[in-house]
Amino acid sequence: PYVITEACISVKDRSCVDVCPVDCIYEGEDQLYINPDECIDCGACEPECPVTAIFPEEDVPTQLRSFIAKNKDVFEGPNPPGRPSR
Ligand code: F3S
Ligand code: F3S
Repeated sequence: PYVITEACISVKDRSCVDVCPVDCIYEGEDQLYINPDECIDCGACEPECPVTAIFPEEDVPTQLRSFIAKNKDVFEGPNPPGRPSR
């Protein structure tokens, strides 16, 4: 799947949401997240992000690798991300 990383935090541009064909990008408190079980790897979201927060999992930079687990775990926690506001 694709992964949303640190640059999204507090920016939440949401341009990615509009292009995802399967609506698998959700809004959490701090950033948006891609549900890894729903993402079909279409890649449409990646070029839309103005702060380059989105990467295919295999291309996530070393210092941002923790976001791979963060995007997965947040959906299994007590306060999972919901439909983006706007
Ligand atoms: Fe965040 Fe970029 Fe989407 S800032 S909401 S990942 S367009
Ligand atoms: Fe959607 Fe991006 Fe995956 S557009 S299907 S979250 S690669």
